[in-house]
Amino acid sequence: MRDESLQHWQKSGFGLYIHWPFCQSKCPYCDFNSHVVDSVDQNRWLLAYQNELRRVGEETQGRVLKSIFFGGGTPSLMPANTVAGILDTAGKIWTFANDIEITLEANPTSVEAKRFQGFRSAGVNRVSIGVQALNDEDLRRLGRLHSVKEALAAIDLAQSTFSRVSFDLIYARQDQSIEAWETELNQALSMGTEHLSLYQLTVEPETVFGERYKRGKLRGLPDEDLSADMYLATQSLCDSKQMFAYEVSNHAKVGAESRHNLIYWKCGDYIGVGPGAHGRLTDASGARFATECPKAPGQWLQSVENIGHGENLPRERLSLIDQAREKLLMGLRLVAGFDQLEELKKMGLPLSEQSIIDLEAEGLINRKDRAIETTLSGRLLLNAVIGKLAP
Ligand SMILES: C[S@@+](CC[C@H](N)C(=O)[O-])C[C@H]1O[C@@H](n2cnc3c(N)ncnc32)[C@H](O)[C@@H]1O
Ligand code: SF4
Repeated sequence: MRDESLQHWQKSGFGLYIHWPFCQSKCPYCDFNSHVVDSVDQNRWLLAYQNELRRVGEETQGRVLKSIFFGGGTPSLMPANTVAGILDTAGKIWTFANDIEITLEANPTSVEAKRFQGFRSAGVNRVSIGVQALNDEDLRRLGRLHSVKEALAAIDLAQSTFSRVSFDLIYARQDQSIEAWETELNQALSMGTEHLSLYQLTVEPETVFGERYKRGKLRGLPDEDLSADMYLATQSLCDSKQMFAYEVSNHAKVGAESRHNLIYWKCGDYIGVGPGAHGRLTDASGARFATECPKAPGQWLQSVENIGHGENLPRERLSLIDQAREKLLMGLRLVAGFDQLEELKKMGLPLSEQSIIDLEAEGLINRKDRAIETTLSGRLLLNAVIGKLAP
């Protein structure tokens, strides 16, 4: 399988993920690796990122970078010259693809919007803005620090600053009716961005919302039927405005899909730098590894400074079955479907023919020649579909 593994990452591309772990405050629903601190020593952090890039650069020489993604946390809290310093170093290590996508996640407070011009000068060409709701009361309940007015102003400013803009909304919120969500989504669609990420609220156990839910205090969440109706309404409203779903929660105009996320979903290679960042790397022999960094910001920083790397070692080598399972898991998220069933079987994944027949009869997947794709209902029940296909 050596050649297949190599060809696979080469076909799906190579990206760089930078994790900035700091936020102004912790949102009660969020279980991302994000921390609130009094101050950040920008010089130390920039040097640490640059050292990490050089270290992983040595083992990925000659590769062409298709995308860079600054995620968080809240990367829009980074001073523009920290972003510029990181991009500068990356440009000295790898060749950038002509159409490289460089995305930065931004929160829409007015303070952060003021940095947009600086991010653009640093080389960022796409922003993904965490709007979450277009209703001030719900923004307050989600613990957000911005108002709807600020969010709309940030989207406008982003559209006049960057060639590519996306924003995120969370729906299926407390006390949200389907009509209210449709009105909100219509407003979002009228903003004219090329990309939207629309997530159903997930109550994560290790969060304030998770705690409240356990105590029966997180009231007014939609039941399964209402959530499913909201998902279906989302798909048809987006379709009607040519913002096609290309993944479970992601919608874009044709050609405006996030290239970075497509590297993940098509199992390409990516480097993960920063606290808690994950990566996937295929070496010259075709062996594929999962990489991971310590989550605590201070531990990561000290590890880079004191022992010269910010990775949890040893790296985990992924067996062929692990890789096959991951390909299936990722591939089925994509609306375009998945055509490597034969390859997965060769990799040793016990795919049951009967399950494929059953899932098709239940209307959860479609089979086309040697490919399968999830239907709308299948994407709604993705975990169950995957569990049945590859138990
Ligand atoms: C890395 S996070 C946040 C980026 C940025 N700091 C922000 O808050 O806008 C990326 C996105 O995940 C979504 N998200 C985070 N936690 C979620 C949850 N519990 N349920 C649904 N969506 C969530 C939000 O839409 C968020 O914008
Ligand atoms: S949602 Fe964004 S701003 Fe809020 S805590 Fe998570 S990463 Fe930070």
